[in-house]
Amino acid sequence: MFEFTEDQLAIQEMVREFSEKEIRPIAQDTDKNGSFPEKTIKELAEMGIMGLNIPEEYGGSGLDEISKAIVISEISKCCVSTAEIVAVHLLTNDIILRMGTEEQKQKWLPNAVEGKLGAFCLTEPNAGSDAGGLKTKAEKTEGGYILNGSKLFISNFGPEEGDHLIIIALTDPEKKTHGGMTAFLIGRDTPGVQVGKTEDKMGLRGAVVSEVILDNVYVPEAEVLGKPGDGFKIAMIGLDGGRIGIAAQATGLAEAALSEGVKYANQRLQFGKPISSNQGLQWYIADMGTRIEAAKMLMLEAADKRQKGEKVTKYAAMAKYFCSETAGYVCDLSLQLHGGYGYMKDYPIERMYRDARIMRIYEGTSEIQKIVISREVIKEYT
Ligand code: CAA
Repeated sequence: MFEFTEDQLAIQEMVREFSEKEIRPIAQDTDKNGSFPEKTIKELAEMGIMGLNIPEEYGGSGLDEISKAIVISEISKCCVSTAEIVAVHLLTNDIILRMGTEEQKQKWLPNAVEGKLGAFCLTEPNAGSDAGGLKTKAEKTEGGYILNGSKLFISNFGPEEGDHLIIIALTDPEKKTHGGMTAFLIGRDTPGVQVGKTEDKMGLRGAVVSEVILDNVYVPEAEVLGKPGDGFKIAMIGLDGGRIGIAAQATGLAEAALSEGVKYANQRLQFGKPISSNQGLQWYIADMGTRIEAAKMLMLEAADKRQKGEKVTKYAAMAKYFCSETAGYVCDLSLQLHGGYGYMKDYPIERMYRDARIMRIYEGTSEIQKIVISREVIKEYT
């Protein structure tokens, strides 16, 4: 059983209070209008949340992995779009911190603390689950590289949104995942970086997602993250942390969906009594509550291990897989408790149901998580 420290409880209370007061009231409109919550992100930056995983020496809050999970989860209870923007930004902070040179950290992290958003560019039209199949090329030239290609479904990048991008590109197409890819860190204003199609999504409608087009983008050697050839591993290590972030989003959403379901079931009268007095529906509630508790434990265990510097590939994949499936399951049953009303936009469960759906897909589908988990488990038990 996890007991949060006093500092973790304080950050939880602060973010919960802010989310309830400032985020929940605008969540339906953010979804309805597909509007990017710019003001909220500014306020979160002022509270130290956008730099929560950045050490104080770069202006950040220097918080731990469990605090990061707590924060994402609390925001997600009120608005998953906002939680996703924060989670992807924290993922890019994490990669810069782990892999960046001192010069890169000095250059990019103070901006990240201020809420200038980071985007993580791995996926391409023909390289989704098979991230190793990407085609964006980085050709060596004097003093740097020339990048050409396009990246698809990039969160935190839009016509106005996004400040810096981590781009994974092929430097040695023969070697591909095994030393053939390199990670670059560039500003959105770098000549040749263009915004392609901005997606019109089913859910997470406040979180902007666009195509990134790279047209002869010159990137100096100083903007390589880690060593040339380390790109695929950097992406995977970053995703180990990112997947815990999605698990945190999912548990926050699942808790909020259960809360909506119970509230509705207690006040909805049918056959002369609240529908929550029906055993069949109580069993739904029992299943939802049990899965949420199990999901939270997996998520917190993964966060705790990452904080301790342990290899978390298996735990992060398990947490991402189980928590996102749980969010889907809980949102579905909570909508069922709402009956026909749950299908209408008047009730937040309709938005939650749509927001939950992507969680089983982004940062690696459930099927990919099972590949990662089974590889690790087979190694462990062989
Ligand atoms: N940590 C460190 N190294 C890792 C690693 C990890 N978690 N996973 C793999 N590697 C290393 C391997 O050890 C291997 O190294 P060597 O060359 O030294 O042997 C190398 O990387 C290649 O690994 P694999 O052979 O396992 O590669 P693969 O092609 O079989 O792919 C995969 C593995 C797990 C399926 C991977 O392709 C994958 O995770 N796919 C899903 C991609 C994904 O999650 N995309 C989401 C993009 S981001 C997003 O959705 C939203 C957003 O905005 C952030």
